[in-house]
Amino acid sequence: MSVSAPPEEVLDVLRRQDPEVADVLSGEARRQAETLQLIAAENFTSPAVLAALGSPLANKYAEGYPGARYHGGCEYADAAERIAVERATALFGADHANLQPHSGSSAVLAAYAALLRPGDTVLAMGLEHGGHLTHGSPANFSGRWFDFVPYGVDPETGLVDYEQVAALARHHRPTAIVCGSISYPRHPDYALFRAVADEVGAYLVADAAHPIGLVAGGAAPNPVPYADVVCATTHKVLRGPRGGMVLCTAELAERIDRAVFPFTQGGAQMHTIAAKAVALGEASTPAFTAYAHRVVEHARVLAAALAAEGFALTTGGTDTHLITADPAPLGVDGRTARARLSAAGMVLDTCALPHGDGRGIRLGTAAVTTQGMGAPEMARIAALFTSALRGEPEETARVRAEVRELTRSFPPYGR
Ligand SMILES: Cc1ncc(COP(=O)(O)O)c(C=O)c1O
Repeated sequence: MSVSAPPEEVLDVLRRQDPEVADVLSGEARRQAETLQLIAAENFTSPAVLAALGSPLANKYAEGYPGARYHGGCEYADAAERIAVERATALFGADHANLQPHSGSSAVLAAYAALLRPGDTVLAMGLEHGGHLTHGSPANFSGRWFDFVPYGVDPETGLVDYEQVAALARHHRPTAIVCGSISYPRHPDYALFRAVADEVGAYLVADAAHPIGLVAGGAAPNPVPYADVVCATTHKVLRGPRGGMVLCTAELAERIDRAVFPFTQGGAQMHTIAAKAVALGEASTPAFTAYAHRVVEHARVLAAALAAEGFALTTGGTDTHLITADPAPLGVDGRTARARLSAAGMVLDTCALPHGDGRGIRLGTAAVTTQGMGAPEMARIAALFTSALRGEPEETARVRAEVRELTRSFPPYGR
């Protein structure tokens, strides 16, 4: 499903005025088109989303919420935000949605601000097992202001250790339990997390930054019926602009809104909210449902092909858009693998592994699926990985040429 209107046309106006910056932007557009975007957190937004982002709403200050702003002239800003909120609540079946968070981290910050006091205990997945920075990293506000207790995954299976979750919850009596991860390729058992939270009187926060697009397309379970608050990003599988979103119960709506503005943010970025509305509109279509299911199907095909090449898959496979794997059986660690794959035009991340200190690789199929690639291309990509990992200059050049040929057939923004 590649989309038309190459960004080059949009850049013309900039090129005439500021060729230096225009060159940077067209270089990035070329990089995205000529290499394989396998970073699990990235995607290609539609030209309609890009149009909203580049619209005059970018000029507008609109502190507050629709109908209650601190600035004048907000009638169109109000309209954009109302559409975004209505689309989000309808799509995810939530009582309430706040589309103002500038990022996924801002959404999590707002959730904590609404539910917790400094020093409160929170149970979340440990960072070395796939938790996000906002799940208690000492380098992040979360680790500084709250007392995080980490749970983990089973070192053998890579699956969440639910017995440990329940035992830690009973022992520490946290104020909130967070479920969600940056690299877990399976669905969290939201019902089980809810039961544990209920048993110890904790709030349940689902950080669905990664799977929310799959949820929109009916390709992953919806955390909304289980969690008190669901935090998400809008720029991953959901294919919207970079940004965050909070979904919550009617009971918590006012607390969440106040936690976003004025507690943790000032004026919302109204052009981004309009772009979120566009993306949510796209995500409500049957075409997006088909897309979300294809993303998962492609991740499964790619995972199986990588396993056949010798990669050790965390949890043995995937139910999502995301694959994490240890390339050690091919003689390299995650960092070397990322560097060699990047040299050959295949862009992805490293990630923690459930066992030991080594790093694995993390990749996803959201962007390549948006480009229109299918199962045969996934098998081809797995073979290219193995060739590139040898790190031989001639082989790397050959793979890079093959990547160029592949991406030429699937341009992200049409020809
Ligand atoms: C689970 C999780 N939470 C929060 C975030 C933060 O999102 P952002 O980078 O937009 O702040 C991410 C981003 O990848 C994530 O995966």
